[in-house]
Amino acid sequence: MLIAEQVEYRWGEFSIMKICVINGTPFKGVTHLMKEEFLKHFSEDNEVTQFYPKDIPPFCVGCKTCFLHGEEKCPHASRTVPIWSAIMDADLLVFAYPVYALRAPASIKSLLDHMCVHWLVHRPEPEIFTKTAVIITNSVGAPNGSAQKDVKTSLSWMGVSRICSCGAGMMGDIFVDEMTKKHRKMLESKMVKLAGKVKSLKPYKHMSLKPYILFIFTKIQHKMVLKSEAQPSLDNKHYIDHGWIKNR
Ligand SMILES: Cc1cc2nc3c(=O)[nH]c(=O)nc-3n(C[C@H](O)[C@H](O)[C@H](O)COP(=O)(O)O)c2cc1C
Repeated sequence: MLIAEQVEYRWGEFSIMKICVINGTPFKGVTHLMKEEFLKHFSEDNEVTQFYPKDIPPFCVGCKTCFLHGEEKCPHASRTVPIWSAIMDADLLVFAYPVYALRAPASIKSLLDHMCVHWLVHRPEPEIFTKTAVIITNSVGAPNGSAQKDVKTSLSWMGVSRICSCGAGMMGDIFVDEMTKKHRKMLESKMVKLAGKVKSLKPYKHMSLKPYILFIFTKIQHKMVLKSEAQPSLDNKHYIDHGWIKNR
């Protein structure tokens, strides 16, 4: 496939795997417990970089500077650039967050908004096309699907090929120190299963079908926009520089 040759193949062995964790809450509650249980199953050689809401950029101000002049010129670049670099550097991305109002919490959404510049319709990074992402969520009882979809949608539009998710409804058991043995066991076994699934995955060399189809459409869109531009925009320059479309 087209992308395969352009992507650096890195994920050979788990012993060298780098993990980037985005924590949607600073609270050492159920989310923290689930994430720690998950990470426990990886070797100590794995390099883990973690970000918390204090590291996440404030709400996007809507200036569109990232799209037009470069993401490094974003007013929140001091927060967005280190997170994006860690994401680029990692083999496995972990998003761990509680369900708020049936959706992802604002901390996560704030980060996702700042990452729109890396969507396929703007300036995707080919290194992300073969990464694996894991979404870990929990709620007091509501279904977790919509909250997970917030992250899934963004990652798919960035071209991430493989996204695994695991959610837990706590049935009112919301404080770790008061948690029943049954619920703790349930969380532990969910994380054993999730870690086992991730660890058994074969290295990915190709972009999967869904992002690949999105990418075909975005290439057509970029080609059409290029025709009407006196000078290629940053987005189109990115596509030209990567050899995805030809300059006129
Ligand atoms: C602001 C806020 C909104 C919430 N919204 C929901 C919700 O819509 N549905 C639900 O089932 N639980 C909701 N919860 C409960 C949390 O998802 C639940 O308590 C979760 O276990 C918290 O994880 P934590 O211990 O890591 O903070 C909400 C909690 C907060 C603080």
